[in-house]
Amino acid sequence: MRTVAVYPGSFDPPTNGHLDIIERSSRVFSRVIVAVAVNLRKNAYFTPGERVRMLKRLTRTMGNVEVTSFRGLLVQFAREQEAHVLVRGIRAISDFEYEYQMAHMNRKLDQKIDTVIMMTGERHSAISSNIVKEIAMFGGKIDDLVPPSVRDVLLKKLKGAGKK
Ligand code: PNS
Repeated sequence: MRTVAVYPGSFDPPTNGHLDIIERSSRVFSRVIVAVAVNLRKNAYFTPGERVRMLKRLTRTMGNVEVTSFRGLLVQFAREQEAHVLVRGIRAISDFEYEYQMAHMNRKLDQKIDTVIMMTGERHSAISSNIVKEIAMFGGKIDDLVPPSVRDVLLKKLKGAGKK
């Protein structure tokens, strides 16, 4: 059976925790679509194009992983992709409540789509995109938190912002 999964998120920027979930889900599902949400509510630091480019670079050796962006409802996007699984990672029990609510809501919207929750590897359990940005903004080291290519893009963008 071919199982297509969507791994949605803000990925602002992608972290080692996200990469861990992408790698593991690519071993579980036939096809994984990493989907960058163009979220109207959240003030993203990176443009959707920048986030898609970073993720494409990180996944270029993974044959069954694609990266794209989407607007609007996640379940609608999943239906268009003929995906029946949504993948989400949880780092700690504090993430659970939000994921529980989203999984239930998405299932209410479309009963043919299930959410599969993966535990983020414990090495990555304290990483979040917001913390990464904050540490980098104040000149802290982010080498263990994001892949080198993401670190370079983030530092370059911060440097550019500093010049303005
Ligand atoms: O990485 P994030 O910010 O936790 O991801 C949240 C995301 C993008 C998965 C969620 O906000 C989402 O699905 N947005 C699309 C709009 C939608 O379908 N909302 C209803 C979800 S119950």
